[in-house]
Amino acid sequence: YPIFAQSGYDNLREATGRIVCANCHLANKPMDVEVPQSVLPDTVFEAVVRIPYDTQLIQVLANGKKWGLNVGAVLILPEGFELAPPDRISPEMKEKIGNLSFQSYHPTKKNILVVGPVPGQKYREIVFPILSPDLATRKDVHFLKYPIYVGGNRERGQIYPDGSKSNNTVYNATSAGIVSKIVRKEKGGYEITITDPSDVHQVVDIIPPRPELLVSEGDNPNVGGFGQGDAEIVLQDPLRVQGLLFFLASIILAQIFLVLKKKQFEKVQLYEMNF
Ligand code: HEM
Repeated sequence: YPIFAQSGYDNLREATGRIVCANCHLANKPMDVEVPQSVLPDTVFEAVVRIPYDTQLIQVLANGKKWGLNVGAVLILPEGFELAPPDRISPEMKEKIGNLSFQSYHPTKKNILVVGPVPGQKYREIVFPILSPDLATRKDVHFLKYPIYVGGNRERGQIYPDGSKSNNTVYNATSAGIVSKIVRKEKGGYEITITDPSDVHQVVDIIPPRPELLVSEGDNPNVGGFGQGDAEIVLQDPLRVQGLLFFLASIILAQIFLVLKKKQFEKVQLYEMNF
């Protein structure tokens, strides 16, 4: 859970670039982020984090019950960017956000946002409303291109903050794939055949007596995982955009005048030839 990261790590992103969620959510799974290419200061925009997975899947909870997957996400924004206040979010954006409640990672780090766990059925796409900094009030922020780091997670982590394993790693499958056959051995325990659907490669994992089996034939329990990615955003100065438009307009005018001059010169040439 994000709260485990909040209570255990001051820095959400390690020096290597790894987001700390990955310390407990061991599997690596894809995620995707979408932000505008550039934003003007003091503007509300949306950052969309997508956490794709097959919604038919179910997972085994800590209490052994089977349930749909939950998702969570983190967004590390550049210094000065923060969650948009509710009165600046448009009704359309509110609709996209739904009932999500975002938190800052730390009271002093308003640019780092976390959300979750929330039901994946509804929130595989999480919309963060973001407010860009107002440069009139923040002198330490500049018009630049900034990186944004994002993490998205679905399903349970494998390790609790105290180091103990959650119930989904007591026995690790030696290969990814579908549980194709389960044989209960006479003296207890199981022989589990796992088939990799792509190369029809099979492995047999032996589980000793005592643990209760939570998978059944046809399951593919190896579905959860954390993914991280990044994006770039330009904090754009409106003067620069106006300057560019002015420059482009001046080029178009210069080109038109060159053509007019050429036409005029051609007339002179014609006149000279008629002599
Ligand atoms: C569960 C997200 C950091 C350990 C979850 C769930 C989410 C999530 C969404 C619920 C999954 C589900 O029910 O389907 C995140 C995010 C993190 C983060 C976004 C980073 C900000 C961590 C850390 C640890 C951890 C640092 C370990 C210290 C776990 C465990 C569970 C879990 C053990 C399962 C809990 C249970 O069901 O009893 N996490 N997590 N997570 N997370 Fe994390």
